[in-house]
Amino acid sequence: MSDLHQMTKTTPKDFLTATLGGLFAPGLTIFMIVMLFLGIQKNMGQPDTEPVADQIVRERIKPFGQSLAIDPNAPKVELTGTQVYTEVCGGCHESGALDSPKFKEKADWGKRIAQGYPTLLEHALKGYNKMPARGGDPELSDLEVARGVVYMTNAAGANFEAILKKEVEPTAAELARGKTVYVDNCAYCHDSGLTGAQKLGDAQAWKPLLKEGKDYLYNAAINGSFGGPAKGGNTKLSDADTRLAVDYMVAEAKAVIAAAQPVKQAAAQ
Ligand code: HEC
Ligand code: HEC
Repeated sequence: MSDLHQMTKTTPKDFLTATLGGLFAPGLTIFMIVMLFLGIQKNMGQPDTEPVADQIVRERIKPFGQSLAIDPNAPKVELTGTQVYTEVCGGCHESGALDSPKFKEKADWGKRIAQGYPTLLEHALKGYNKMPARGGDPELSDLEVARGVVYMTNAAGANFEAILKKEVEPTAAELARGKTVYVDNCAYCHDSGLTGAQKLGDAQAWKPLLKEGKDYLYNAAINGSFGGPAKGGNTKLSDADTRLAVDYMVAEAKAVIAAAQPVKQAAAQ
């Protein structure tokens, strides 16, 4: 009994310790709250520097960022001639590297310009000696390469316009004939995608083919390509009819691609 009494007895010293300890904790909390408040007030007066830095970075990467970095699903925005030159062609032509005709150097460009725009464009698209096809950037569209050519040649005294060779559009009657030929000779593989045949109206499969141009596709259809048999395996089919079937396939692909475009654009806005 006396032990128990001993334990619960509070001395004045115990009392003092407990009281100070009890006051200390809330005191510290109040102190911290005050400091935090002062800290917040101090920061409010200062401009936040981060958005400014962000702005500068965005400004600097603008030519790339606007079309490529922000929305990977946005439709491709064609670069201007200046942008194509700055990003790709200038790599050689600015300094005249690899004996390339130097930018604005009329002596370098005169004879080349005299060849005419179509030849220059063809050389820029397909490559020419040490000049790599599309300046070495396969991502550039035909139009972008054309703009690069025009930008450089006009800077050296030419007066060209970025025109691409226009493919002749088939008439409605030709397309109707093409469809018949297609159904009879090509649909067997190209409707189903059999053995890897590009399916009719499959935008993904046809986009790279359209880039090759109709001459390439006619040739592939008439003479056969990798897995595709010549004339779809029907040797009696005329070249003209085979071409019309290709015209029909191309028209179907273009229609699907065109139909998908406004939707994508709307989504990107
Ligand atoms: C890797 C270096 C390099 C890059 C990058 C490059 N070129 Fe060239 N380019 C050359 C060279 C070298 C020649 C000269 C070829 C020759 O005449 O043998 C040339 C020549 C040309 C010619 C003249 C062809 C002719 O028929 O005389 C054109 C047009 C041209 N380049 C356009 C472009 C365009 C457009 C770009 C950018 C999309 C580009 N080049 C990027 C190296 C380059
Ligand atoms: C027996 C199956 C088959 C038939 C029938 C067929 N094709 Fe194909 N075709 C293919 C395959 C497989 C490919 C894919 C080749 C490849 O991998 O590039 C192809 C590819 C093509 C291509 C793209 C060329 C390329 O480089 O890929 C064209 C154009 C084409 N066919 C046109 C036709 C036309 C026109 C007909 C009818 C007259 C036809 N095909 C009938 C199997 C067929």
